[in-house]
Amino acid sequence: MSENTATKPTKGILLAGGSGTRLHPMTQAVSKQLLPVYDKPMIFYPLSTLMLAGIRDIMIISTPADLPLFRRLLGDGADLGVTFTYREQPSPDGIAQAFIIADDWLDDSPCGLILGDNLIFADHLGKQLRTAASRPTGATVFAYEVSDPERYGVVSFAADGHALDIVEKPTRPLSNWAVTGLYFYDGRVREYARSLKPSPRGELEITDLNRLYLQNGDLHVQRLGRGCAWLDAGMPDSLMQAGQFVQTIQSRQGLLVGSPHEVAFRRGFIDAAGLESYARRMIKTELGRALMGIANAVPENDAEAA
Ligand code: DAU
Repeated sequence: MSENTATKPTKGILLAGGSGTRLHPMTQAVSKQLLPVYDKPMIFYPLSTLMLAGIRDIMIISTPADLPLFRRLLGDGADLGVTFTYREQPSPDGIAQAFIIADDWLDDSPCGLILGDNLIFADHLGKQLRTAASRPTGATVFAYEVSDPERYGVVSFAADGHALDIVEKPTRPLSNWAVTGLYFYDGRVREYARSLKPSPRGELEITDLNRLYLQNGDLHVQRLGRGCAWLDAGMPDSLMQAGQFVQTIQSRQGLLVGSPHEVAFRRGFIDAAGLESYARRMIKTELGRALMGIANAVPENDAEAA
């Protein structure tokens, strides 16, 4: 890694491809990551997470058929004070392929990657994300205790708490700690990704990439505790649960969940006039009215509230 890599701003990749077969027929004509999660398209939630980490330079990767739809929804990013770059993944050959697709754009910048169907909510998440995004070397993954670890990448721990191994969809999981679809890497990620070989199921596995960092003693595994919700909205039940979760929190607390426009404002990427201009276009919706209220309140610049 070159001397100044650590000082480069962290870039972000939002991976929103795949065929969404587990949600057919809902996703036969529409990309999964554009389906509604209560009052917003699914992609707004992981996008908010990347922005909460302070990331402003974001590549959106999706299928050739779906990419124009994301462009139509999100544009060039000016509304959010960020820059979007769009790139195709011709076929779903693995999550780690994102780094091959983004190779020249990444250069040797550190990078955060989030899967377009991963929703993460936690108190003080912004602070944890910014710590991970600003770590000068190594990789950071987030682990979350689940009842069905065999569906995920699973990390096992030694008695002293350090990570021992990560295995993709193990038939006999050694722990209940699933690795979430949010990852941060230093500038070596391109080099590591290029060294990967396709797995028996023909994919460049993100778990193999994480294992390379682990073997070099460079993987930080941050455990997300009980007060945190990690939902992956990739199946009918989890999609419904995610929508109900967002509705419950928003109506009970009167706070927005997963609004990239609110995050942009609170993180200082856009000013009140910028937020107001977006809110005005959405004013027939509850979301638009909530954003208008935020634009007109005394700015807190408190990303944790987002
Ligand atoms: O959600 C977290 C899990 O995500 C991790 O615990 C696993 O380690 C990781 O492999 C991944 O498991 P999934 O079974 O959820 O992976 P899936 O193939 O379903 O892909 C996850 C999302 O990424 C999905 O929305 C589609 C998108 N994707 C996937 C692949 C393989 C792409 O855009 N391109 C791809 O090539």
